[in-house]
Amino acid sequence: AALVAADGVEGEGRAGLVHRADVAVGDKAELDEGLEAVADAEHEAVAGLEQLADRFGDLGGAEERGDELGGAVGLVAAREAARDHDDLALADAAGELVGALGDGLGREVVDHEGVGLGAGGTEVDIAVDPLEGTNLTAKGQDGSIAVMAIARKGNLLHAPDMYMEKLCVGPRAKGRIDLTQPVQENLRRIAEGLERGIDDLTVVILDRPRHQEIIDECRSAGARIKLITDGDVSPAVDAGIEGSGVHVLMGIGGAPEGVLAAAALKCLGGDMQARLIPYTDEERKRCWEMGIDDINRVMTLDDLVKGDDCIFSATAITDTPMMRGVQYFGGGARTMSVVMRYKSGTIRFIDTFHRFDKKAKWSIHL
Ligand code: FBP
Repeated sequence: AALVAADGVEGEGRAGLVHRADVAVGDKAELDEGLEAVADAEHEAVAGLEQLADRFGDLGGAEERGDELGGAVGLVAAREAARDHDDLALADAAGELVGALGDGLGREVVDHEGVGLGAGGTEVDIAVDPLEGTNLTAKGQDGSIAVMAIARKGNLLHAPDMYMEKLCVGPRAKGRIDLTQPVQENLRRIAEGLERGIDDLTVVILDRPRHQEIIDECRSAGARIKLITDGDVSPAVDAGIEGSGVHVLMGIGGAPEGVLAAAALKCLGGDMQARLIPYTDEERKRCWEMGIDDINRVMTLDDLVKGDDCIFSATAITDTPMMRGVQYFGGGARTMSVVMRYKSGTIRFIDTFHRFDKKAKWSIHL
């Protein structure tokens, strides 16, 4: 098993932070058991955020320190998941990386590409974005999450770190979307599935110049649009949940984020289509090297997340429509997470109080 990809590369194109690892969890650690472990890991991850934030100064520094802080949080999650599985090899490996990151060496994760993790047994792919929506966190704006997806080895698309065109909807529009069709036709079909008018659809789109055309098309079709500054995973998940106020997520965002969203939508019974958007020859080459021959191919949900089992977990860092962000109070924090599993069909919301210093005087705040 190996840490197979880690982005966070500055410069042209995408500059996200999704760490993807192939990890062999111990024999005892069936994927089933991962459910609770992932939830716990997410809680610990956010508790870790506070401790790490202490070292780096306040969270407001996340813009500068986002990579280090976020990377460390994700690895805290991985370490805690491993500890829960009694997989000490993985826990130690992740612990070492956390140590390295904690010392401010943000690129350590990238340098650990190819490092073996785990003690053998069931091999899984893990995609982690410990700080999805770095700018949102830095500015205290809604929609930032710590997010993780797990599936059996080979089942998560190893999406190169580039852009991806995405169209995400909930269960009632499943089977109706087609990325090759014009925006207005997709809106018509989605509205039909949701048994409402197009003017009752809310479409979330990243506020970028590249989206001017689809923004115009949505407007002329009469749909409501919600432009977001960053973080398209959270609204993609929201599209899969009735009552979230989001019916569609469309537009071009990060490809690794697209795979995370796909895992959630698969668990929620929603739907997604996607297409890689390489802008440079280098990005095209990266696609070929990763075995993606037909770069223009429209990928379905099952291409993005294969198989009959996957787990998605997210903890709100700042508020999302379905979860409150991390609330800190003296000596502790309260977090909200969601953990979903495709195979069992379970969707759990977990509301947790974390006590950082068990000796300190402490009471639960509502
Ligand atoms: P961060 O990695 O800085 O948190 O940004 C994440 C994100 O906003 C994704 O949610 C989105 O898919 C992508 O970046 C958009 O990329 P860009 O900002 O280059 O348009």
